[in-house]
Amino acid sequence: MPAIVLVGAQWGDEGKGKATDLLGSDVDYVVKFNGGNNAGHTIVIEKDGKREKYALHLLPSGILTPTCTPVIGNGVVVDLAVLFEELDGLEARGVDTSRLLVSASAHIIAPYNRVLDKVTERFLGSRKIGTTGRGIGPTYADKMSRNGIRVQDLFDEKILRQKVEAALAFKNQILAKIYNRRAVEVDEVMDELLGYAERLRPMVADTSLVLEKALNEGKTVLLEAGQATLLDVDHGTYPFVTSSNATAGGACTGSGIPPTRVDRVIAILKAYSTRVGEGPFPTELFDANGEFLRKTGAEFGTTTGRPRRCGWVDTVVGRYSTRINGTTDFVITKLDVLTGLDTVPVCVAYDVDGVRHDEMPVNQTDFHHAKPIYEELPGWWEDITECRRFEDLPANAQAYVLRLEELIGARVSAIGVGPGRDEIISRHSLLGD
Ligand code: GDP
Ligand code: IMO
Ligand code: MG
Repeated sequence: MPAIVLVGAQWGDEGKGKATDLLGSDVDYVVKFNGGNNAGHTIVIEKDGKREKYALHLLPSGILTPTCTPVIGNGVVVDLAVLFEELDGLEARGVDTSRLLVSASAHIIAPYNRVLDKVTERFLGSRKIGTTGRGIGPTYADKMSRNGIRVQDLFDEKILRQKVEAALAFKNQILAKIYNRRAVEVDEVMDELLGYAERLRPMVADTSLVLEKALNEGKTVLLEAGQATLLDVDHGTYPFVTSSNATAGGACTGSGIPPTRVDRVIAILKAYSTRVGEGPFPTELFDANGEFLRKTGAEFGTTTGRPRRCGWVDTVVGRYSTRINGTTDFVITKLDVLTGLDTVPVCVAYDVDGVRHDEMPVNQTDFHHAKPIYEELPGWWEDITECRRFEDLPANAQAYVLRLEELIGARVSAIGVGPGRDEIISRHSLLGD
């Protein structure tokens, strides 16, 4: 079986965690390939008749499935304190985390990068990105500038010291001279990082090689994105993006699996839109409807607790996501949240300064000026959370899904009708044909 990629189609928080968890029992490996603990995936599982909620940040969602091996790929940036805190938290709840593998080439979020993320945002003032403040941007910047610290460096103290010294020689100038902050001591960083080395050692592997062997043995590998298409550093709403490739291409570079082994791309699309942080968002609502979506959909960030900005679904974004990711299957999530509306607007194109755009404008300024052109679809009032077959859905809910399918250009294979593992309607198998 080849590798399967799973990405977010919008601005994140589409329900990737739930979808990955759902596939967990049918796949052998779940690989996180980008991002770090800026992600927040909420997974709701039924255990002994009770609903249990898990919030994962750094760990792949496959960690909750006993039969699957979770992998942190080379494209991820790892905050070691968060890694062990999450592992301890799961172990305390009876989850076996012993199968976790961590790429020797993944980069580490050094303590000074957490500080730099926060002070840079403060410095930018009204021009800030609205980052999660976890040190993601500065760590990827170090990776590209070739002065990052990698997992494997923890096991060579001499090399680690050289790298930390080199990084701090530069960073301390910035911290002290630009931001008026205390300089960071080399020993402070060394002590923190080395303090984790021995616990980390057994998890560290050449994960690209492990995955290649697994694929050769006919195993199934799911590559799970953090963030989403419009937060991708190349294809998103730059500069209001994260600092990694969250689209399907990133799955290959971030895991070491070549494109020729990937034959399916599943994109997760929320039945409406949300965004956290700054940046353009054409269908954003500032009225009672926005409040309705936020309340009904419980749209508050899993990582930072910030209220998410809410708006109607945007099929220009959906189509763009199909193009950039080569989406073969969509999972539409949170259809249940739209229950109880007279009409449900669907954005089909943009008006940019009087000109109609059916595709995503390539220029940032045009996207900032984009006004949604809506098609109004009739709503439904019936509770759909118990529906398990497409035919069980009210006719208007079916028509909504079918119209989205037509507009976004790839088949809708599953539909989420609630947060629980079983609250899903399957139309086509996500792993078979
Ligand atoms: P992720 O970052 O893409 O994994 O998504 P988040 O976990 O940040 O946000 C998605 C939220 O929606 C979580 O609280 C999920 O439990 C919840 N969720 C996922 N699918 C559905 C669905 O179909 N219906 C409802 N009501 N909630 C859902
Ligand atoms: P999941 O995986 C939603 C947003 C931040 C900010 C921008 C840059 O749960 O979908 P960063 O800290 O990455 O430098 O912040 O990206 N952002 C997310 N928004 N869901 C996420 O992850 C996000 N990860 C980052 O709010 O606007
Ligand atoms: Mg999230």
